[in-house]
Amino acid sequence: MTQFPANPPSRRAIVLYGRASFDHGQTLKALASALAARHAARGEAVTVATAHADLSGPALPGVLADLERDGVTEALVIPAMVPADPSLSAWLPGALSHWAATTGTAMAGTAMAVRLAPPVESALDLPAALDRIALNSNAGGPADALAKDVRGTEPSLGKPGWSAIPEHGRQVFVCVGARCLHRGAEPLYHHLRAAMKGHRALNAGPRRAMCARTSCLYPCNRGPLLVVQPDAVWYGDLTPGKIDRIVAGHLLSDTPPAADILHRNRPAERAEDDPMG
Ligand code: FES
Repeated sequence: MTQFPANPPSRRAIVLYGRASFDHGQTLKALASALAARHAARGEAVTVATAHADLSGPALPGVLADLERDGVTEALVIPAMVPADPSLSAWLPGALSHWAATTGTAMAGTAMAVRLAPPVESALDLPAALDRIALNSNAGGPADALAKDVRGTEPSLGKPGWSAIPEHGRQVFVCVGARCLHRGAEPLYHHLRAAMKGHRALNAGPRRAMCARTSCLYPCNRGPLLVVQPDAVWYGDLTPGKIDRIVAGHLLSDTPPAADILHRNRPAERAEDDPMG
């Protein structure tokens, strides 16, 4: 967890909840540092921490748990992503309430008060920010803010290697949408990557499998989840043990662990004159 100051003397905390890159060259960490400095200048003892809604982690539940363990009694969560994510904003209040009710002493609820602020985007003066960029882009502005003529860059739509279709027998799509991350997808994704890497058969040859991250796949309540294609087999409520069984059973032995399967899509029915049939 990134937090300012590093050793929190305070009982209050602010958690900036955003994506790894908040704005061009302005990371969430830098924002947290600046916010902490402002509070310090006013003589206010506040810990400022960051939590991420993308795979860069750490996820919000872990950060809140760390703060509570450090003795924080009041945490203010500020969604700090631009553009704001409306579906995230609709989901977050309930998810935080769930965390507060099920975490803490004997999973009976946290003693720490958790409040949720409106998203920062509603407070941003974007037209003024855009105007500032436009002004600074012209000759006379700071050197690193000047706009560059695109003709100074080699024309290209991609690197040569990007035309080759990888020869994968299977693709494993792991959801790293905000809700699955909230339910612990980040360490599970890394667990899967490590488990797959450990098997040569999954890196070359007919069993070669690709692991890819996706945004929300929709059955969020069953997250963290993944789907193995082209077999169309879904696994939900993932755990490290379940992932190990998927790798050993499904990917290495073509035997999906039946007890762990959440859902199987029926194969698409094709019309006789379907050119794909
Ligand atoms: S966020 Fe993973 S299924 Fe919705």
